[in-house]
Amino acid sequence: MNKRLIVALDVPDLKTAKNLVKILRSSVEIFKIGSQLFTASGPSVVEAVYNAGAKVFLDLKFHDIPHTVANAAIEAANMGVFMFNIHASGGTKMMQAAVDAARKAASIAAKPRPLVLAVTVLTSMDEPELRQLGILRKTEEQVMHLASLARDAGCDGVVCSAEEAAYIRKALGDDFIIVTPGIRPKGADIGDQRRIATPHSAIEAGADYIVVGRPIIEAQDPLAVANKILEEMGM
Ligand code: C5P
Repeated sequence: MNKRLIVALDVPDLKTAKNLVKILRSSVEIFKIGSQLFTASGPSVVEAVYNAGAKVFLDLKFHDIPHTVANAAIEAANMGVFMFNIHASGGTKMMQAAVDAARKAASIAAKPRPLVLAVTVLTSMDEPELRQLGILRKTEEQVMHLASLARDAGCDGVVCSAEEAAYIRKALGDDFIIVTPGIRPKGADIGDQRRIATPHSAIEAGADYIVVGRPIIEAQDPLAVANKILEEMGM
């Protein structure tokens, strides 16, 4: 069983999500539940993934005042998710509040603490778009800056593009978890992603986990594509 491929359940309802988990479960252990599915189906979808014996990456990218993000982190820990994420651009206090709250809640509930990952720069963003937001650093510098802040705030790792994985790995060491979306197997449609990589190059660059959505969930045969990606990862 490959534990490094995360499939993004970017679908509109519980039934479709459950069906995908059933199809993919023999090859995939971690499923990502994002804002579309969680808004539509809530915690019942997290439960459905558990009932299939799999783990959840709750990808709600919390970004709010520290108090609110801490309370959201408590709920994520109480649900027993394997990992969840926050936006590093929410700042150090917000990230520390999330990590502390997740730790306390998991210890009270006697569950393993969820991994807390920080989103640096969304993989759909490019430099012109960053400039539009008033961020004048190069993408690489902005990603590195946010990743260092996240590490110093106690986060377990970051979500970043494969391009960035290599220098984050080098600068922040082997213990810092790197999760990489924006993955396209050879010949696949890029969609709205900008900074993409193949499964193999992402792993080579130092990613611990790769996240794949549309290439798998929109395929005629999702399991075949997942297995091909595992092969490309060298697993
Ligand atoms: O369909 P695709 O493979 O592009 O899906 C990538 C998934 O990873 C989406 O669910 C998206 O929300 C998520 N993601 C991302 N870039 C980030 C963080 C998460 O694409 N920086």
